[in-house]
Amino acid sequence: MNIVILGPGAVGSLWANAFLHAGHSVSLCSRQSAKQLSIQVDQYNAALFANNDKQSIQDADLLLVTVKAPHVITALTPLLPQISPDCMIMLMHNGMGTAEDVIEFLPNNPLLLATTTHGAYRESSQRVLHTGLGTTQLGGYNDKGKQCAFLEEVFQHALPEVKWNHDILHALWHKLAINCAINPLTAIHQVTNGTLAQEEFSLLLSRVIDEVSQILTAEEIRLSKKQLEDSIFKVIELTAKNHSSMQQDVFHRRATEIDFITGYLLHKAKHHNIAATENTALYQQIKQIEQSWNHE
Ligand SMILES: NC(=O)c1ccc[n+]([C@@H]2O[C@H](COP(=O)([O-])OP(=O)(O)OC[C@H]3O[C@@H](n4cnc5c(N)ncnc54)[C@H](OP(=O)(O)O)[C@@H]3O)[C@@H](O)[C@H]2O)c1
Repeated sequence: MNIVILGPGAVGSLWANAFLHAGHSVSLCSRQSAKQLSIQVDQYNAALFANNDKQSIQDADLLLVTVKAPHVITALTPLLPQISPDCMIMLMHNGMGTAEDVIEFLPNNPLLLATTTHGAYRESSQRVLHTGLGTTQLGGYNDKGKQCAFLEEVFQHALPEVKWNHDILHALWHKLAINCAINPLTAIHQVTNGTLAQEEFSLLLSRVIDEVSQILTAEEIRLSKKQLEDSIFKVIELTAKNHSSMQQDVFHRRATEIDFITGYLLHKAKHHNIAATENTALYQQIKQIEQSWNHE
């Protein structure tokens, strides 16, 4: 297949390399102006990829978008004239809400969503470390996207484990719900995920989960409050020593993905007339932290 990776950061580089080794023709689209980019994953030989090549975009069978959620539209817009209506577009990032915008720009393309638990760390612009094996779930967002289940085999062959999910929105909501509970709190208090198991967070966490659960129910996501609570505390336990992506973004003073995590939740809460006081407070605290960097 002809595959273009838009946003070859940690996750994008991992997939670019995996697809190349699986025998596909892979090129990149990045913010860098160089015509070619070299990427090395772990200790393997570095590979050279074409970068921002218009012909490769026109020929692409699959455009895998691995920029962070706030950058999806900005990154896609300049490519629109080149994207063929048959090109499958797959969004792979944390958070939700971008597909609703992408479909406005590309109404005729197959649109797919993905979520991954692989760990990747970008040591430098040319070197990425695959820090943890994980699972990737893929699924269609629109009708054309739902007809692309064959991609499960393509992705599985490149970087296992991969599962096609007929209800990818359910998987994304589940992940979003967990992120809403863990990410803002760990970012505000600058603590590891495991710290949230301590008594001092128990009441607040329980209120946050209660609100998230009400919104999931209103969205007709089949996940009971007990199931949600269990999965949140399982993640807290299994990733006790880890720092959430939002904790790291705040630590490094990078814009967070809050608008596409808690922000998306609050957007849905408003739609259903659900108060979501605790999640609103967490959202505002993260926004205040981000704004404080501009005033220093
Ligand atoms: N890393 C992980 O282990 C992991 C695991 C699961 C999920 N995720 C999620 O996956 C997503 C990507 O994460 P990541 O860790 O790969 O982030 P990342 O390393 O920051 O990669 C994002 C890439 O997008 C590029 N980009 C931004 N705007 C662009 C534009 N307008 N045009 C082209 N490229 C653009 C960035 O370029 P610059 O280099 O110029 O900034 C960067 O290379 C996030 O939503 C993250 O939460 C990450």
